[in-house]
Amino acid sequence: MRDSSTNAVPDAVAPDEARTERSKPNRPHKARAETERPQKRRTPMKSDAASPQNGPEIPLDQALDTVILGDSIDIMRRLPPKSVHLIFADPPYNLQLRGELRRPDESKVDAVDPAWDQFSSFAAYDRFTHEWLSAARRVLRDDGALWVIGSYHNIFRVGASLQDLGFWILNDLIWRKSNPMPNFRGKRFTNAHETLIWCAKSEAQARYTFNYEAMKELNEGVQMRSDWLLPICSGGERMKNDSGDKAHPTQKPEALLARVLLTSTEAGEVVLDPFFGSGTTGAVAKRLRRRFIGVEREPAYVEIARRRIAEITPHDDDALAFARSKRRAQRVPFGLLLERGVLKPGDVLESPRGVAKVRVDGSLVADGVSGSIHRVAAHLMKAESYNGWTFWNFQGQPIDLLREKIRAELEKQEHGSEN
Ligand SMILES: C[S@@+](CC[C@H](N)C(=O)[O-])C[C@H]1O[C@@H](n2cnc3c(N)ncnc32)[C@H](O)[C@@H]1O
Repeated sequence: MRDSSTNAVPDAVAPDEARTERSKPNRPHKARAETERPQKRRTPMKSDAASPQNGPEIPLDQALDTVILGDSIDIMRRLPPKSVHLIFADPPYNLQLRGELRRPDESKVDAVDPAWDQFSSFAAYDRFTHEWLSAARRVLRDDGALWVIGSYHNIFRVGASLQDLGFWILNDLIWRKSNPMPNFRGKRFTNAHETLIWCAKSEAQARYTFNYEAMKELNEGVQMRSDWLLPICSGGERMKNDSGDKAHPTQKPEALLARVLLTSTEAGEVVLDPFFGSGTTGAVAKRLRRRFIGVEREPAYVEIARRRIAEITPHDDDALAFARSKRRAQRVPFGLLLERGVLKPGDVLESPRGVAKVRVDGSLVADGVSGSIHRVAAHLMKAESYNGWTFWNFQGQPIDLLREKIRAELEKQEHGSEN
């Protein structure tokens, strides 16, 4: 789906072009869907508890950092409930390809048409989606999150299903491909993006991890937006088989997974990928020192993923430390700097636009204007609003650093009192 050179997946045009004008969009495919569930399990599950389990329970410690060969629905039903922090899923797209796609030079485009992507109808795909999302919901912690990636072929169906099941969408993100495959026949726009849906387990969920500051840092200090421009997976990152061909048709770029994992997890937390493919999620998780569980039903892909992950060296502690989210951190008002004796009334704060005097109530006065650190900074900057924490220095040191020191002391005290 997503490779510019030969790979006819959603990033390419192949899925659309390969469908002839005569073919009906939802006509059953001739090859019976291997991904369909047996008839007796086709009725949508009403609750997770009712889901049949096809084998013994799998203890979490046995599953961690392994690639499990099997059907993701069966395996997820056997994992302990509420045991994983994050689920990243890149499910089959249900491309429903019709016929061959050729480039202008008549070479054949290597489309994604393996058995795992074939379903007899939209209804069969919806049943499959409902089942794997139900199983995923059961295994997800109540403070966890689920990310799912897809193309226009499937993402709207997946989105409806996850809302029906009670997941709560936080964002949809566009992965814009910097190097998509062109639309060879010129009959549609170049298909240059895929969509990720990020959701919490439920609307009522009080907490979910969002490493806001880390994502902002990754974006050079500017708030990260919901459109991510990244190249498709190619070059040395692309896994090859023994004949030197692509080992997996829809291998995702590691940079994409790194953003997802950095957004939604802390080191040591558990990430489950029920459609593991070539193991991109596991490779990134190991590098970022997250724990992973991969499920994949094709033995050849399991083998590739295991080999790939074995070669990954995890980052060290220093490299892994990242900017903490100030939203989750202790709130430290400016007045507390005075109360804790870090500053005292009468101290002078410096800035590129002038100095200000600290007053006893934690307000500042400068240039005839008084108010909060933000208000006085905004006045000097002739702006509507301004972040005073990044504007003022005390004795050459940003006051934001003084705040960080106090915050660290408070957190230490808080944790000390918990122990
Ligand atoms: C879109 S690919 C995932 C690619 C992966 N993200 C990567 O970067 O390599 C979907 C994968 O799910 C696997 N799959 C499909 N149905 C499955 C099922 N019911 N259980 C487990 N794996 C399944 C396919 O074999 C395929 O490798």
